[in-house]
Amino acid sequence: MAIVNNKNEMGQVVPENGQKWDSTEPSRGSFSYSQGDIVPLLRCHTLIWYSQLPSWVLSGSWTRSTLQSVIETHISNVMGHYVGQCYAWDVANEAVADDGNWRDSVFYRTFGTGFLAISFNAGQKADPNTKLYYNDYNLEYNGAKPDRAVELVQIVQKAGAPIDGVGFQAHLIVGSTPSRSSLTTVLKRFTALGVEVACTELDIRHSSLPASASALTTQGNNFANVVSSCLDVAGCVGVTVWGFTDKYSWVPETFSGAGDAFIYDKNLGKKPSWTSISSVL
Ligand code: XIL
Repeated sequence: MAIVNNKNEMGQVVPENGQKWDSTEPSRGSFSYSQGDIVPLLRCHTLIWYSQLPSWVLSGSWTRSTLQSVIETHISNVMGHYVGQCYAWDVANEAVADDGNWRDSVFYRTFGTGFLAISFNAGQKADPNTKLYYNDYNLEYNGAKPDRAVELVQIVQKAGAPIDGVGFQAHLIVGSTPSRSSLTTVLKRFTALGVEVACTELDIRHSSLPASASALTTQGNNFANVVSSCLDVAGCVGVTVWGFTDKYSWVPETFSGAGDAFIYDKNLGKKPSWTSISSVL
C-alpha cells in the first residue's frame, strides 16, 4: 500500500470491480458497498454496462418503463452513496461493438440508444458535481468504433442530457500502440464536441512472456507515447492505469499467454515504463 498511498506515485484510484452492478445491487433493491468502499475513491466505474450484471437484470422481462425505473434506482443509489467523492463516473461503458455497430445488451434491446440519455440524466440528478463519462476500449485507433462513439456523444447532447467526458480505456499491446500523433488526432475528435477526454484504463501487455529487455524498452516507449498524446491535447485531463504491479493483473486471465502490462514489476520494482513516463512529465 505504500505505493498507492504515495501521492507522488498515484493521484487517483479506481475500484476495479467493486462498484459494478453485480457488486452494488446483487439482488433487486438490496445494495452493497462492501467491495466498492475498500479504496478511497476518485474515479468511479461503472453504472450501465452489458457485462458483470447480476442475473436478475440480465434475465428480467423488462418493459421500457420498468427498466427505466431500475436504471434510475440503481444510479441514484450507487452515485448517491459516493456523492461528492468521485472526480468522474463512468455512467455508460462499452455501448459500441468492435465493428462499430451498437453493442447488444439488455439496455439496447429495450430502448435502442435511448438508455444513454436516461442514464446520463439520472447521473446528473444523483451527483450534479461529478463529471459524467462515456467509457470504451479500442477508441484509440481511428475507425468505425470511434466514429460510432462520436455519434453516441452527439446523441446524448441532442437529447439535452449532460455528458462531460469520454474515457479511452486504452488496453493496448506492446509494439502495436497508436502513434503519438494518431492518438492525439482521435482524442481531439472528441474534445471538438465539447467534452473532455482521459485515458482511463491504460495497460500495455506483452503478447508473450517472458518479455525481453528490448520488449521492456519498447513497452516504456509505448507508455511514454500515450502519456505524451494526452499531454498534447488541451482537453485530455489525465491517464489512469488499470493496475500498477505485474503481480496483480486482470490481463493474464483475459488474454491467454499475455501479461506484464504495468509499470512496476512483480517485486514492486520500477520498470522501464515507469522511467519513460516520468521522463515525459
Ligand atoms: C475487468 C476487471 O479488471 C477484472 O477483474 C474483471 O474480471 C473483468 O473486468 N473494461 C472495463 C473494466 O471497463 O471494467 C474491465 O475490468 C476491463 C475492461
